[in-house]
Amino acid sequence: MAESHKQGMHIPVLLPKVVEFLSPREGGWYLDGTLGLGGHSEAILEAVGGKAHLMGLDRDAKALALAAKRLARFGNGVRVEHSRYSGFASALDAHGWPLLDGALIDIGVSSMQIDTPERGFSFAHDGPLDMRMDPGGGEAPASVIVNRGSFETLKHIIAEFGEEPLAGKIARAIIEARAKAPIETTLELAAVVAHAYPAKWRAAARNHPATRTFQALRIAVNRELEELKYFLGAIADRLKPGARVAVITFHSLEDRIVKNAFREAAAACVCPPHIPVCACGHKQTLKIITRKPIAPSLEEIRANPRAASAKLRVAERV
Ligand SMILES: C[S@@+](CC[C@H](N)C(=O)[O-])C[C@H]1O[C@@H](n2cnc3c(N)ncnc32)[C@H](O)[C@@H]1O
Repeated sequence: MAESHKQGMHIPVLLPKVVEFLSPREGGWYLDGTLGLGGHSEAILEAVGGKAHLMGLDRDAKALALAAKRLARFGNGVRVEHSRYSGFASALDAHGWPLLDGALIDIGVSSMQIDTPERGFSFAHDGPLDMRMDPGGGEAPASVIVNRGSFETLKHIIAEFGEEPLAGKIARAIIEARAKAPIETTLELAAVVAHAYPAKWRAAARNHPATRTFQALRIAVNRELEELKYFLGAIADRLKPGARVAVITFHSLEDRIVKNAFREAAAACVCPPHIPVCACGHKQTLKIITRKPIAPSLEEIRANPRAASAKLRVAERV
C-alpha cells in the first residue's frame, strides 16, 4: 500500500489525463462533482494559474472541509458545496453559474473514507457496518440491509451491484448468521461471506471473498447507480458547445453505464432497428472523445495500487 494511503490521504487517479482532456482555460467554469480531497480540482486550477471558476461538490462533509482548506489559496473562484452530484444543476443555479466549460466525476470512495475504520467501508479494519458517504443524509447504514433485508433483497443487491456469482449462497449465509446474533461489524460480515465461499473458490479468488459483497452494499446504501445515471442524463444540457465531461469509474458495472449513456447521447437516432423512419425525436448532445476507456499506466498502478481498476471516459458537447 502506498505510504500516503496509510496517512488517510487520497492520490488522484489518471490526473494528467483528466487535465489533458478537460484542457482548462483561463476564465472557464468547471464542475467537480466528487471533490473528495480536491486533488483533481487543484490540478485543474493550477493548469490555468488559478484563473478559473470551479465548483466542487461532495456528499461527505469531512472530505469537503479538507478540500476547502486545500483549495483556499485559489480564492473566490472556488466554491464548495455539500451536495450529491445528482444535485449539480440546483447548485449551479443557486449561484447563478453559466454553462460549464468542463465537468468531472471520479466516483466511488476516497482512500480517506476506506481507511477510516469507523466509516465501515472496508474489511481491512474492524468497524461498524455503516458505509454511508453522508452519514447525515437520510440513508440507512449497511447494517440495516444486512440484518433486515429479505433473502431476495440481499441476493439481488449482491448479484447486481457486486456481480457476485455466489450471491444466493452468501445471502443465505447472512440470514443464517444473523438468526444467531446480529451482524454488526465489517469483520463479522467478512467472516460470514468468506465462510459461504467453497474452499476451492476461496483458494482460486484473486481478492478477499467479501470484496464484491462490500462493493454491492456500498453501492446500495449510497444509491450510487441512480446518482450516476441521473448525472449522465442531465450534464449535457449544462455544458457549452465544445465543453467536455470526464467520468472515472472503478468497476465494470459503472463503466458500462457510462459507455451506454455516452453512446446514446452521441447517437442521432435511438429508434429500434426495425422502424423504417426515425420517430424518436432524439437529438445528439455529445460526441465521444475516448472510443476506448483510458486506463492507468503500469507505473501509476505501481505507485497507487488503488488506481488499478480505474477507467476514464470523456465526451464533448456538440
Ligand atoms: C474517488 S473520491 C474523489 C477524489 C477526488 N477526485 C480527489 O482528487 O481527491 C470520490 C468522492 O466522491 C464522493 N461521492 C461519491 N458519490 C457521490 C455523490 N453521489 N455525490 C457527491 N459526492 C459523491 C465521495 O464522498 C468521495 O469523497
